[in-house]
Amino acid sequence: MMMNNKVFPVITVDGPSGSGKGTICRLLAEATGFSLLDSGALYRLTALAAIRAGVDRDNEETVTSIAQSLNTEFKLTPTAIAVMLDGDDVTQDIRREDVGMAASKVAAYPGVREALLNRQRDFRQQPGLVADGRDMGTVVFPDAPIKVFLTASAQERANRRVKQLQEAGEENIDKAKILADIQARDERDSSRAAAPLKPADDALVLDSTSLSITDVFETIMAEVYSRNILQA
Ligand code: DC
Repeated sequence: MMMNNKVFPVITVDGPSGSGKGTICRLLAEATGFSLLDSGALYRLTALAAIRAGVDRDNEETVTSIAQSLNTEFKLTPTAIAVMLDGDDVTQDIRREDVGMAASKVAAYPGVREALLNRQRDFRQQPGLVADGRDMGTVVFPDAPIKVFLTASAQERANRRVKQLQEAGEENIDKAKILADIQARDERDSSRAAAPLKPADDALVLDSTSLSITDVFETIMAEVYSRNILQA
């Protein structure tokens, strides 16, 4: 008998890029044994598929049909999750800055969001799911028992990005441009008509500007225990 996957608990973590969502979601998935959905990767894959096909990302209709027929797979390797597109490992490619900017653009198309909706919901499996994104608590999993909105000031998120690039050995880092790009992306993600970035009414809002990863993690885990969503 097919079980309704709505019975499996979801922890949604929404917020802008650089807020620490990715790290927190990995820690939560490890601690709970739940699977992990990186929904941003699906928007990045759509953008990369459009770039590879030479499709202008202003072409909403064609980009939407690319999202509908996205041939992708998240492959578990012994050390990480490999993101595949048409059989190629694109784990690194989807993290490119130009792909991120294009993803923000294509994510504003309602048809693209609709095309990716069921793919995201399919990740809800036993024993539960940690969902990382922008509209996990508002649109994709509105019935999730635990919803978090994680944010941080634009300046703090820009500082984190600069540090990441420095650690990756990047030279000639334009700090002002990084901050401006973050502000531009925030503006686009929060002001779009389709599923804008905003906390769900019942979300726990955490500001990581002055909280450590450990503080954020422990606050969410306290919620997990108090809601009793882990199987004994
Ligand atoms: O989290 P990220 O940087 O990988 O996301 C890439 C882009 O995709 C980002 O600009 C916003 C968009 N996105 C979205 O609109 N909805 C989601 N659930 C996840 C990401």
